[in-house]
Amino acid sequence: MNAIEVNQLRRVYKTTIGVVRRKVKEVVAVDGISFDIREGELFGLLGPNGAGKTTTVKMLTTLLIPTGGSASILGLDVVKDAEKVRPRIGFIYGGDRGLYWRLSGLDNLRYFSTLYYVDPGVAKKRIPELIEMVGLTGREKEKVEGYSRGMRQRLHIARALLHDPQVLFLDEPTMGLDPIGARELRSAVLNLQSANKTILLTTHYMFEADALCQRIAVIDQGKIVALDTPEKLKQTVNDLSVVEIEIFGIPPEYIEKISQLDFVDNVAVENHDQRQVMLIHTPKGSEAIPLLVEQLNGLKLGKVVTREPTLEDAYVRLVGGAE
Ligand SMILES: Nc1ncnc2c1ncn2[C@@H]1O[C@H](COP(=O)(O)OP(=O)(O)OP(=O)(O)O)[C@@H](O)[C@H]1O
Ligand SMILES: [Mg+2]
Repeated sequence: MNAIEVNQLRRVYKTTIGVVRRKVKEVVAVDGISFDIREGELFGLLGPNGAGKTTTVKMLTTLLIPTGGSASILGLDVVKDAEKVRPRIGFIYGGDRGLYWRLSGLDNLRYFSTLYYVDPGVAKKRIPELIEMVGLTGREKEKVEGYSRGMRQRLHIARALLHDPQVLFLDEPTMGLDPIGARELRSAVLNLQSANKTILLTTHYMFEADALCQRIAVIDQGKIVALDTPEKLKQTVNDLSVVEIEIFGIPPEYIEKISQLDFVDNVAVENHDQRQVMLIHTPKGSEAIPLLVEQLNGLKLGKVVTREPTLEDAYVRLVGGAE
């Protein structure tokens, strides 16, 4: 059974520019996407900034009306049956709003359970379970203002689950968290999955999608450019090796020059303060090194290594360029 079905979903934003002669500018944020998510599946929607992830989640959570296409949650249309969809879903958007900082975590959950009309008897049992599930046991009586960002984010998840929704939407849940906070949040998400929730998670971290999701849809400029299991996505770059060249100050024309070479599939550049690392995808493997070094003649080079492609490389190949 599918918990979520998305069919040719589209959203165009109209914005006006100029004051005197107002012109209407159209932005196609989501450009006819289709996918299904099975019941109990943890599904990742992955893409760079501005790809259309939040817009998609907003349409699926009934906060935004689609310009075209359709979507349903548990068989209910997100537009026509919006009233019926809402009690069956929970969502969190990255960020800090929506909690009362002067109250404890526990009191926040009590307050919101009343607001959501959760039966008091049910809430009494469910709240401690949720606190446990998101890893806040022992800290629940402390005020939220003293929580770390990661703890607040996990409390958000508990809040979104108070009415026991079957389907959960998490829009960049690890945004702004340090590596440890992010890791704790990811383990909270995995706990949810064992509670048999269907989860749609957005992220722009490939490794995060890889660690959590059963399937991943990669979205770029409003379109789905790939949809598969992490393993299958990795196989799309099996024929390539990645050559990494450390360079101290790289003029842009060199990036262009390297990407024009016939044995080069893709070039990305990672910036680290004074130095850059050029990631070159090539089927030639280490044989390509002398040819590449020759092209970079005159630049100050550091380490040069060849390695196997990762899922991150598959992502770079799909959406192109350096982020
Ligand atoms: N209210 C709005 N009015 C006009 N354009 C918008 C609006 N909201 C989003 N957009 C545009 O729609 C496109 C998709 O935005 P969206 O927020 O869905 O992307 P995203 O994938 O969530 O990005 P991010 O990773 O930065 O959160 C972008 O080009 C964005 O500028
Ligand atoms: Mg977003």
